[in-house]
Amino acid sequence: MKISILGSYQTQFGELWDQGLRELLKEAAFGAIKDAGIKPSQVEAIFVANKAGGGFSNKRHISSLASQMFNHFPPSLRIEAACASGGIALVTAEQAILSGRYKTVLVVGVEKMTDVSSQETTKILTSAADVIHEYGSTFPALYALLAKAHISKYGTTREQLSAVSVKNHRHALDNPQAQFHKKLTIDQVSNSQLVADPLRLLDCSPITDGAAAVVLTSKKSLGKPKILGYGQGQDTLDLASRSSLTELKATQTAAKFAYKEAGVKASQIQVAELHDCFTIAELLATEDLGFVAHGKSGNFALEGKTTYGGKIVINPSGGLKACGHPVGATGVKQLVYISKLIKKDQFKIGLTHNVGGSGATAVVHIVGK
Ligand code: COA
Repeated sequence: MKISILGSYQTQFGELWDQGLRELLKEAAFGAIKDAGIKPSQVEAIFVANKAGGGFSNKRHISSLASQMFNHFPPSLRIEAACASGGIALVTAEQAILSGRYKTVLVVGVEKMTDVSSQETTKILTSAADVIHEYGSTFPALYALLAKAHISKYGTTREQLSAVSVKNHRHALDNPQAQFHKKLTIDQVSNSQLVADPLRLLDCSPITDGAAAVVLTSKKSLGKPKILGYGQGQDTLDLASRSSLTELKATQTAAKFAYKEAGVKASQIQVAELHDCFTIAELLATEDLGFVAHGKSGNFALEGKTTYGGKIVINPSGGLKACGHPVGATGVKQLVYISKLIKKDQFKIGLTHNVGGSGATAVVHIVGK
């Protein structure tokens, strides 16, 4: 694989009253182009990740909105794969580069979620689940089932789930673009408002506005971070059809492809942005990506093995939990954050992991120099 991340950009994440989808899209796109040091006219194609611009902001056909920001109207494609829209947009762009059609492309993920009520947001998000077989279930409820299965099989504790949130909120203190800059204690997380038993408010990722973009190129780019490998995995949309609720097979498949292509092992990954839409999701990913054995991720997190000074730094940006989760932008933002750390030589090999639905789609990227 010879694709470099030439430039990248993340807007502020949060409840952004003064910016709509169009403004966020533009800020991220031109921020990444400036960071790449290229002219806008050098962008050969655009890949836009967006989950639900139609529902959240009555904006569809976002690909053309992106193209018309450029004088030369480059070809543009909008990609939707629920919360994995960003990851799948990256995969689509990478395949377009690898086909030889384009050399330099822009991938931009955007979501403007806070213009509708929480109830409406929940309804829109739920459309990414199997609305026939899981009728009435929200994402907190679906991940609560996964948490219950993990607790029942491995004895995972309330304290271990809370440790994930405490760590990610602490990491976000160092990320100016994060939605929350609030230090939490285990007790605060464990006693926060119940949302879907056993998941509480502070186990959940929030509702977020934001955008992120990267410029990818197959041209020689000395000193720039590179995509060493990527993989995509799929599973059933509904949980009932799965053989196990204590692992996400899509993550395992995506990881297998990515590790093989990159020629690296899980033990070589030093830093990772994982899809912690709920605290249990980070624990599942820590196991499915092979950082620790199944059933051991709870203690791994509680003992500080997933932060600075531990075995691997997980979610240095604050993750979805504290940096925020503008669903279509998340997969791109993960690559923005990891590639910046690699560029600064803070770490040698990093990984990103983006999930759609309750594990129906997963994308893993491995980044190095
Ligand atoms: N983490 C930390 N704080 C949060 C939060 C979260 N996830 N969600 C809301 N808050 C805070 C708000 O900032 C607000 O604080 P303030 O009173 O100091 O301003 C307070 O909690 C109440 O916020 P509100 O907007 O009324 O919350 P809500 O009840 O409408 O929504 C959730 C809370 C958990 C239901 C909502 O964040 C949610 O649905 N999260 C999951 C999103 C999701 O499913 N994404 C897809 C994943 S697959």
